[in-house]
Amino acid sequence: MSYAYIKVAVEDGVGVITLNRPKILNALNLQLMDELVSELERMDQDADIRAILLTGNDKAFAAGADINEMAEASAIEIMKRDQFAVWDRISLISKPIIGAVSGFVLGGGCELMMNCDIVIASETTVIGQPEVKLGVMPGAGGTQRLTRAVGLQKAMEMLLTGEPITAKEAARYGLVNRVVPVEAYYQEALKLAKQIAQQAPLAVQVIKKSVHKAQDLPLADALDYERNGFYLLLASDDRKEGMQAFLEKRTPRFTGN
Ligand code: HXC
Repeated sequence: MSYAYIKVAVEDGVGVITLNRPKILNALNLQLMDELVSELERMDQDADIRAILLTGNDKAFAAGADINEMAEASAIEIMKRDQFAVWDRISLISKPIIGAVSGFVLGGGCELMMNCDIVIASETTVIGQPEVKLGVMPGAGGTQRLTRAVGLQKAMEMLLTGEPITAKEAARYGLVNRVVPVEAYYQEALKLAKQIAQQAPLAVQVIKKSVHKAQDLPLADALDYERNGFYLLLASDDRKEGMQAFLEKRTPRFTGN
């Protein structure tokens, strides 16, 4: 498959998607989002891929939705585009998505990052929701996911001022997992993705879904969901292999069954 605005590669069970509109800081136009989500869904179905790495370049993960595409469009035109439908499909991806981010992570870029399950950021990363400065507000989850991630007060400050925070501050608030030098963020994220790609695929996917339930469901329902996931995994071949390998003191060979 050839794409205009993303690059795709596979390495040791990790599907790598690189946002590729460097001249305008990976601004997210409609076609880029279509390509990205189509590829995420394709990788989700590809048994050879067990984790997904999503990245941009050192200067920008993504500086937001493409303002050129929005500037002239009327409210009704934008509503009819239904551009958020494609975003909604990202949360249905069952394989873990690891974000490797650097530079500008703004607006839709921040919303995209918040769809990643684990994020490694470079020291040069700045993260924000600057929509208020354009006279609008986030539309792809910014007010909701940011608030869940960093808490009410910090989210209010970021969303109402539009000012970005540094990667270090983002790590303190749990918005990214860790911050490393710009030379290292991609390799660090790839290493992590490869490590996850070695785990039992079904367990990884059920865990991912179950963790999301912690934010989406009341505790009793989420615990119920977790327990059912636990029982389900006991029926997998990989559970037998994992426990047998432990007893035989060898590395397990997981098949995803
Ligand atoms: C279109 C963009 C862009 C964007 C940057 N560019 N961000 N084009 N949409 N979101 C373009 C610039 O126009 C410029 O193109 C080139 O990228 C380089 O940007 P500069 O501004 O020259 O770079 P710099 O001075 O380093 O400033 C970087 C920046 C600034 C701070 C990131 O570009 C900026 O503020 N960008 C807008 C960020 C933003 O408001 N994002 C939120 C968008 S709204 P030329 O052709 O001049 O070289 C949004 C809503 C989400 O995301 C809704 C859900 C989808």
